[in-house]
Amino acid sequence: MDQISEDLNNSFKDQMQNDAQLQAMVKKRRELPVYNSMGKIMEAINENPVIIIRGNTGCGKTTQVCQYILDDYIQSGQGASCNIVITQPRRISAVSVAERVANERMETLGLSTGYSVRFESCLPRPYGGILFCTVGVLLRRLEQGLRGVSHVIVDEIHERDVNSDFIMVILRDMVHTYPDLRVILMSATIDTTLFSKYFNDCPVVEVEGRAYPVQEYFLEDCVQLVKFVPPMDIRKKKRDKDEESLEEPEENMNAKVTNEYNEATKNAMKSLSEKEVSFELIVELFKYVKSLEIPGAILVFLPGWNLIFSLMRFLQQHPVFGSNAFIIIPLHSQLPREDQRKVFETVPDKVTKVILSTNIAETSITIDDVVFVVDSCKAKMKLFTSHNNMTNYATVWASRSNLEQRKGRAGRVRPGFCFHLCSRILLVAGMARYEKLEEHMIPEMFRTPLHELALSIKLLRLGSIGQFLSKAIEPPPIDAVIEAEVLLRVFCSIVGNNGNEVFGHK
Ligand code: CDP
Ligand code: MG
Repeated sequence: MDQISEDLNNSFKDQMQNDAQLQAMVKKRRELPVYNSMGKIMEAINENPVIIIRGNTGCGKTTQVCQYILDDYIQSGQGASCNIVITQPRRISAVSVAERVANERMETLGLSTGYSVRFESCLPRPYGGILFCTVGVLLRRLEQGLRGVSHVIVDEIHERDVNSDFIMVILRDMVHTYPDLRVILMSATIDTTLFSKYFNDCPVVEVEGRAYPVQEYFLEDCVQLVKFVPPMDIRKKKRDKDEESLEEPEENMNAKVTNEYNEATKNAMKSLSEKEVSFELIVELFKYVKSLEIPGAILVFLPGWNLIFSLMRFLQQHPVFGSNAFIIIPLHSQLPREDQRKVFETVPDKVTKVILSTNIAETSITIDDVVFVVDSCKAKMKLFTSHNNMTNYATVWASRSNLEQRKGRAGRVRPGFCFHLCSRILLVAGMARYEKLEEHMIPEMFRTPLHELALSIKLLRLGSIGQFLSKAIEPPPIDAVIEAEVLLRVFCSIVGNNGNEVFGHK
């Protein structure tokens, strides 16, 4: 055993025996569902260069798997050769999860655990550590090679953001060049066949969940449940200009009209526009939730900051929900970290926590006490307009898999309730939205310009842009690839070296 590994091993034993707080924490960690799969996971990692771990959000993948690996190395006297890099799709989750893991180990950041995101780092010790970072940081690190890294964990691969699709191409090649490297891909419970196929039919380890059932309501159910009568001016209100981008519902009168709903509900549905998020309806749902007298936080999914902020204002001015029996907390990736921590704080009895969030609370952030979910069924999506080469954000309908994830957030501590604000049944013309939703969101690689990726491909000397991107899990269309290549050449010629530095002299 080398000196560093021996020291790690000794202090591990010492701490485990003498630190009562740590022992209590270890006990708590063992209560997470992923703990029962630890043996399976470790075995799969030892026997395969690439594995996928699939499990419900909140089961403990992100915070536990990296610690199982590190502790296993330390206990077997090889601690110094364990260096784990784990990527997160967002800066906020990289930092907050690193803090959480350091906490669980009764350490400060910078010992076994650290993070690195753009403009901000607190690195772990160089031997025997866990580094949480964004995919962008890992890509830059790859420019210097992956020397010393024993495990790469790519978290939340189901999000299909452009960087994680990109890193998967590189990792798939790397496992051949570095046979000792271990790649672990982690995903929420969605269909992982595509990923497994892509990695040569790699094994998928399932983590058995522990979720409670969630009662699901759609728009017409909500309307009937609270006997909602839309205010007169509801159709005229236009709270969020971005909503204009939502496509018009097509007329669909061929489907069967149902009779389960009463006239009042049908009338209300006629004057409600699904495209708008009705704050009045949300308030009625809150009142209903209150009347159930079941303790638990309410999590509202909204597409973006505009609506989060205006709903917050709306609620604050409300006689009941603006009182101190309610704590309204916005959650958005651009908010300072101190503000984001508030969502985890427990509230006194008789006080209801209401979190107004983007899809950041869908998988990356787990709020333990959520029992009620109100889902606007919308999301902000980065879209690319090719005629002017601009990216912008538009509000779009979320996919059915988003709805499923959002619903799941309600069943963590007890049976929950989820109110989806889109129609499922054809009550009036143009409704039955649910059927028209996409199964999954379109992967980002299909809707963003590729020139940044093209530049990375060149900087990392990964060969021809077209050839590289054709190896992606779902390759982008060829004209987008050509456009990126052309744009990069133009850029290089402006910079002055005709692109020779990035393109080589060929
Ligand atoms: O990655 P996955 O969604 O499977 O779960 P995780 O992020 O590892 O979280 C496991 C548990 O740790 C959650 O259910 C939370 O109870 C807790 N946790 C927390 O309290 N604070 C955090 N910042 C992260 C996790
Ligand atoms: Mg996670």
